[in-house]
Amino acid sequence: MRCQHCKKQAILKSPRLCEDHFVEYFERKIGKFLEKYKIKNKKLLVAISGGKDSVVVSYVLSKLKEKFNLQIEYFFIRLGIPTFTEKSEEIATRVTESINYPLTIYDLKKEEGFTIMDVKYKPCSYCGMIRRYILNKYAFENDFDYVVLGHNLDDEVFFIFNNMFNKNITQLQRTGPLTQTIKEKKLVGRIKPLYFLTEEEILLYAKLKNLPHIGCACPNSLESTQKKFKKDIKFSRDQKLNIVYSILEMKKYLPEEKVELKFCEKCGYPTTSDTCKFCRTKEKILSTL
Ligand code: FES
Ligand code: ZN
Ligand code: ZN
Repeated sequence: MRCQHCKKQAILKSPRLCEDHFVEYFERKIGKFLEKYKIKNKKLLVAISGGKDSVVVSYVLSKLKEKFNLQIEYFFIRLGIPTFTEKSEEIATRVTESINYPLTIYDLKKEEGFTIMDVKYKPCSYCGMIRRYILNKYAFENDFDYVVLGHNLDDEVFFIFNNMFNKNITQLQRTGPLTQTIKEKKLVGRIKPLYFLTEEEILLYAKLKNLPHIGCACPNSLESTQKKFKKDIKFSRDQKLNIVYSILEMKKYLPEEKVELKFCEKCGYPTTSDTCKFCRTKEKILSTL
């Protein structure tokens, strides 16, 4: 199998590219993302967890930062999962050191008084909400334009199907490569530069660039629906892209999520009830300690 641009051996079937052309294609795709969504002269908070996606996005953004005049801060949340957190932090530190950037570490226990292991029932299902809250708060308080997330094409396809399986049609409005910052609502926008890249492509790029990353998923998530979905349902790269493009197009016709945002009476951040989910969860956890 030959590369579609030169005579060299292709290392990937779709797109059919050799090593050099693949690296060029991969970085160009992220560059195009930044161009398309006008991520220029911006201050970005990059959430690095040590997983392949966040490591790859951290690395590529550091290469593109001059071209797009980006001001970047790398941010790691120390969740307190035995062994896993230490390993992830070591990787995040190694990666940021190699690209010459300081790493901000947010220690959940020190800052909020609990670790994710103190969530007794299904910690993973609270973890996403807790991380989103912390990232948004830190980004808002420190004037960031966007939080950068490492979500990839496979994650988005799962998100779409999972919501359809559960008939959560309005939730589909939440998919997309970017959300805008709404300062008056204390919401910082989020961008997903790997939105149009598959897990296979990301893993390959990490391998070619020798980027360290934590090979296993969070130990608390062993039986996750997402893992099962990714294992059982196989789509080609083109099919995944078409699913995502179709939903992005269909979003225009989907009902808007009707939520009225107010500010949490405890922390002052946006919520749909009087106290936000983070404050309610935190209070509940602290009462059990
Ligand atoms: Fe954070 Fe599992 S506890 S992803
Ligand atoms: Zn080639
Ligand atoms: Zn709150």
